[in-house]
Amino acid sequence: MKITVVGTGYVGLVSGACLAEVGNDVLCLDLDAEKIRILKDGGIPIHEPGLDQVVARNVAAGRLRFTTNIEDAVRHGTIQFIAVGTPPDEDGSADLKYVLAAARNIGRTMTDYKVVIDKSTVPVGTADKVRAAIADELAKRGVEVPYSVVSNPEFLKEGAAVEDFLRPDRIVVGAEDDQAINLMRALYAPFQRNHEKLVIMDVRSAELTKYAANAMLATRISFMNELAILAEKMGADIEQVRQGIGSDPRIGWHFLYAGCGYGGSCFPKDVKALIKTAADAGQHLKVLQAVEDANDAQKMVLVDKVVARFGADLSGKHFAIWGLAFKPNTDDMREAPSRVIIDELFKRGATLTAYDPVAMDETRRIFGDEPRLSYAERPMQALDGADALVIVTEWKEFRSPDFDAIKAVLKSPVIIDGRNMYATDLPRAAGLEYYGIGRR
Ligand code: UDX
Repeated sequence: MKITVVGTGYVGLVSGACLAEVGNDVLCLDLDAEKIRILKDGGIPIHEPGLDQVVARNVAAGRLRFTTNIEDAVRHGTIQFIAVGTPPDEDGSADLKYVLAAARNIGRTMTDYKVVIDKSTVPVGTADKVRAAIADELAKRGVEVPYSVVSNPEFLKEGAAVEDFLRPDRIVVGAEDDQAINLMRALYAPFQRNHEKLVIMDVRSAELTKYAANAMLATRISFMNELAILAEKMGADIEQVRQGIGSDPRIGWHFLYAGCGYGGSCFPKDVKALIKTAADAGQHLKVLQAVEDANDAQKMVLVDKVVARFGADLSGKHFAIWGLAFKPNTDDMREAPSRVIIDELFKRGATLTAYDPVAMDETRRIFGDEPRLSYAERPMQALDGADALVIVTEWKEFRSPDFDAIKAVLKSPVIIDGRNMYATDLPRAAGLEYYGIGRR
């Protein structure tokens, strides 16, 4: 099939590359000439495991191409994915200007049938706006060209994006006419395995499904984070509680990890946007508002623990930070708890040395030339001259450190771990004070 993907961010680039991988002829459009230049030169503008090989293989096979030319892109695909950004507005609602601009470009140029697919996370009702934008452009041209608008939200996780796209647990498709439904069935046939993955529904339900999924997952995390605080007060251990409840199949194991708050490009933005969508419809989402408030508070938990141990005035204190990205296997710093933690430690007078396997360049870009923040080339190097170690992201390479070596180098024998990476007895056996989230 001939497919155009508009937008080469996480969702667009992964979708385009994986759709090429199963034999489609894919053209990716981005108006950011620099991104397209990098892609044409064989580079990848984001860090995503395995994506570089999939892109390289399909570019070499001639199935995956990149362009900045809107007309070429519209002409190319019968299937037109819109996978552009939907940054939050001032008021938290998703800004649709890029989505609607992409729709207008299609309407302005198309001469034959197109299925226009919203892949970006967009509020309920966006497909109607996309349909109207295309209709408006066709009317301006005085032509009638048939098209369908489909909602096909993407559930991929950063760090596992290629795997998630190639082996999805479900493919949600909101479509309301047979021509579009049949095309979507054909498009996703290569991804069907073992059981029916396509869940076909009406467009508005598909749009809401994406928000429902992310809001539910965020709710689980905030719930566990609040229970972790309670566990500390009660002398219980949230890790044991997690194991005690996860085995109930109605609860399940996933997304029960207490930590220093959720971040990333999806949960914070989508939770806000759903609250706003509901408010616009006259409904106050009480549970979800609490989820957001609890998460904002949770980003301060590590700072509170540092203050509890070292005092409110941290001037002259120096801390090692392990992990900056909002989660492992990505260099994404969007809404990362580390940003709040770094700012708040600065405010109290501390200086920091950070180590992250891939997110240090991105952190440098965000914090600029900041004399209070230096970077280490290796995890242990970050500990030189530090009063304590603060762990913010659970990278695998932090899983089994040499606790004796850590004890020997830190000025105070303190690890404050925002991701509960260790069984509490291990660092303690080495003579370290070990503070986790919700641990005994
Ligand atoms: C999420 C959804 O999982 C994905 O389906 C959707 O398409 C996009 O949003 P992503 O943002 O890539 O994916 O990351 P995810 O792995 O879901 O983690 C989100 C945040 O929650 C991270 O900051 C992570 O540290 C945190 N988290 C996750 C916890 O604090 N505890 C958990 O148990 C799980």
